[in-house]
Amino acid sequence: MKIEKWIMREHNEGVPDAAKMYEKVVEDVEVKLADDEMLFRTRYVSVDPYLQGIARDTPIGDHMGADSIMEVLEAGPAAAHRPGDLVQGFGGWRSHVISDGAALPWKTGEFPMVFPAYRRLDPARFDDALPISTALGVMGGPGMTAWGTLTKFMTVRPGDTVVISGASGLIGSLTGQLAKRAGARVVGTTGTPEKMAYLTGLGFDEVILYQQGDDTETVHQALAAAAPDGVDKYFDNLGGSVTDAVFAMLNIGSQVAVCWQWASQVGNDHVGPRLLPYIMYPRTTVRGIYALEWFTEENWSALHDDLGDLVRRGEITCSQTIRHGFHDIPNAYQSLFRDRAANRGKILVKL
Ligand SMILES: NC(=O)c1ccc[n+]([C@@H]2O[C@H](COP(=O)([O-])OP(=O)(O)OC[C@H]3O[C@@H](n4cnc5c(N)ncnc54)[C@H](OP(=O)(O)O)[C@@H]3O)[C@@H](O)[C@H]2O)c1
Repeated sequence: MKIEKWIMREHNEGVPDAAKMYEKVVEDVEVKLADDEMLFRTRYVSVDPYLQGIARDTPIGDHMGADSIMEVLEAGPAAAHRPGDLVQGFGGWRSHVISDGAALPWKTGEFPMVFPAYRRLDPARFDDALPISTALGVMGGPGMTAWGTLTKFMTVRPGDTVVISGASGLIGSLTGQLAKRAGARVVGTTGTPEKMAYLTGLGFDEVILYQQGDDTETVHQALAAAAPDGVDKYFDNLGGSVTDAVFAMLNIGSQVAVCWQWASQVGNDHVGPRLLPYIMYPRTTVRGIYALEWFTEENWSALHDDLGDLVRRGEITCSQTIRHGFHDIPNAYQSLFRDRAANRGKILVKL
């Protein structure tokens, strides 16, 4: 059978140039499954900013990794899933996958990382309000990142001021809505007036226009107007000058969740630990977020019961932007970094 793949042709630093980096190849494969192997057809592929780090560590010629939803077409007698099952796993930018679906250590990365075993998606947990594609969004890694941060680290209390950088994506918009439900004043940053209106519509109290590289003092002034009582909780998706501005506004007992650092990881803005003096007086707790630690059956179940029910009842809104066709995967990925205006919520590609 023919299997299509996007493979790594060339690495590039900074903002990804998908047209140069990836090449589509078609392989003719004779399918001979081992007892524990399965043949999967990819149904949805997720594109996420963190893939920039995965891309950097992917050897030339290897397929690009990514979270995906796959359907089991064939299965060996000892395989973990049966034909017809839908699973979510790190299947990558491939039309079909042959795998045992077991957890896979990521050996070439900068730090030890294991992609979890493919998880079966229980059809009873999905419906029109939460379609199967949300297993890559609100009922998947991004949902777990937002919900996990607010249930397992950040203690948002009524009256707190919560700032979220890069708030228009799925993780930022979910975090903002959950913080709002907990009684906080929520301030977000985003790149266009249309997205400001989108976030205001979701209940954000204040939204600030921000682009990577904006002057710290200008951002500080905008934040000081939006958060006159200082910042109690900061969910950081971006780093850079917005983070510089927020650190100078942290209140006593504040908490900072470091979810991603666009500035250093994509923007090549590497500077020393210049912000740490700011955390002494307010006794701030800064914690890295690594959502994989929460990927347990117990937490998936709780995520469905808790966040899933809020979405079903219409109390939390989550958008997704679905693009179509295998050929469009690199373009969808590129859209996370350039020309982001049309994107709302989770960005994924339906094959
Ligand atoms: N730590 C973890 O465990 C974990 C797990 C999953 C994901 N993540 C990371 O969490 C972050 C949020 O995920 P997501 O799915 O919500 O991503 P997303 O949909 O791509 O949203 C990213 C946000 O970053 C903003 N942004 C991107 N480039 C920017 C730039 N140059 N200047 C200013 N803002 C910029 C976007 O702003 P606009 O509104 O202007 O478009 C958007 O609000 C990602 O960086 C992802 O890699 C971390």
